[in-house]
Amino acid sequence: MEGFPYLESKESIQSYLESVAGGEGVGLDDLRLATTLDNRDKLASFRAKFCLPTISDICEGEKLAADSSQDCVYLTGNSLGLQPKGTKDLIVADLDKWAKKGVYGHFHDPVAWLPIEDIVVDESARLVGAKPIEVVPMNGLTVNCHLAMVSFYQPTKDRFKIVLEKDSFPSDFYAVQSQVNWHGYDPKEAMIVMAPREGEHFWRTEDVVQLIEEQGDSVALVWLPGVHYLTGYVFDMEAITKAAHSKGCYVGFDLAHAAGNVELCLHDWGVDVAAWCTYKYLNSGPGGIAGFFVHEKHAHNQQLPRLLGWWSHNRKTRFDMSNVLDLQAGAAGFQLSNPPVLECLSLKASLDVFADTSMRELTIKSRILTGYLEMLIEHYLTKEKRENVAADSSKYMTIVTPSDPKRRGAQLSLQFSFPVKEVHHQLASRGVVTDLRKDGHMRVAPAPLYNSFKDVWTFFKTLELTLK
Ligand SMILES: Cc1ncc(COP(=O)(O)O)c(C=O)c1O
Repeated sequence: MEGFPYLESKESIQSYLESVAGGEGVGLDDLRLATTLDNRDKLASFRAKFCLPTISDICEGEKLAADSSQDCVYLTGNSLGLQPKGTKDLIVADLDKWAKKGVYGHFHDPVAWLPIEDIVVDESARLVGAKPIEVVPMNGLTVNCHLAMVSFYQPTKDRFKIVLEKDSFPSDFYAVQSQVNWHGYDPKEAMIVMAPREGEHFWRTEDVVQLIEEQGDSVALVWLPGVHYLTGYVFDMEAITKAAHSKGCYVGFDLAHAAGNVELCLHDWGVDVAAWCTYKYLNSGPGGIAGFFVHEKHAHNQQLPRLLGWWSHNRKTRFDMSNVLDLQAGAAGFQLSNPPVLECLSLKASLDVFADTSMRELTIKSRILTGYLEMLIEHYLTKEKRENVAADSSKYMTIVTPSDPKRRGAQLSLQFSFPVKEVHHQLASRGVVTDLRKDGHMRVAPAPLYNSFKDVWTFFKTLELTLK
């Protein structure tokens, strides 16, 4: 199978797509282009490893405008990933073990519960560019954001500020605000809320770096998303980390929309701390266990303030119950409770799928898949294009995600010149699943692990119908 090239610019992706279409002698919006791309896709077989709802599954009770026995077009892996087919077997086998072994299940194979976190550490670390000692599964994401700040937000009289961004996800905003309050500082003074330039949607790296250079002496922590939830914009985590460290600030990232979506090198970039949920691109299921990263340079730092529980203690002597702390090294020493076994297993089922590929392979496909979506929209559905061809040219859309593939992952966010709820509803009644967020953003996320080029083409054609 031919596979796709690794492409680094919008222009190279567009010219690749045009050359494939030219080679086939078909137009850019022809289904045959999608079919050719699917035939070239080395990851195409991964789709069969997931449970794909049919249109009738997801549109229960709706008046349907499509053949309901077909697979739906699922473009919301950025919100909740699809269920891997291996999940149910792992969970059911463990429920059986619990039924048969009771408390002895803690020590019994196939997966002993006591060291259960071990089953997801190595693969999680590989996916975020970390060493195993730097990663642990625990809690939910918001809890982990707080635990990150408990350790890495240690304000002093002169250095008490946190840099965050204007459209922070509410959990990040409230976590920062409440941590600042908790330490007795005034959020109005302590929160430096960065906005993009007037009239722009994204933060320019040079502006973020300049802000840190100018105000860094008073900053204790830079806390930003890796990938922005609303626009899909990828922050330049490496440059931001470098700038923050040069001013003596700690730096942490909420990687909810980054883990399993874009290539990360948390260890090499020197990021201090990070947290992510696993139910989006990592497909662990609703409310799945979250991930936590602490850089190796902090692995043996016993002075780092933290909250403790029995799972922070060395597992070899944990059951001595001595109450004399023997702290686990690395990220593991930030655990408080014994982990939820079923959640670790459901994450494991998905990581087993990732184990057969790599973030680089996924990125190669993702760039062409999302580039294909971008090309279809830009060629046919933007204001300029609609003015030339459409009977009703007042209906069009704008992409509010960067066009540079290095500054985005699998998500494109769209804004519409007319009420978006109606579009969303019409897509849903035709079995096309997207989601809506504030300010009329429709988020569309072709996940390279299970979405096909035909999915993207069907989305585009259905969207086109809603403009009629
Ligand atoms: C960027 C971001 N941060 C935090 C959260 C909150 O996650 P949780 O409810 O798992 O704590 C989400 C949830 O979608 C998110 O997208």
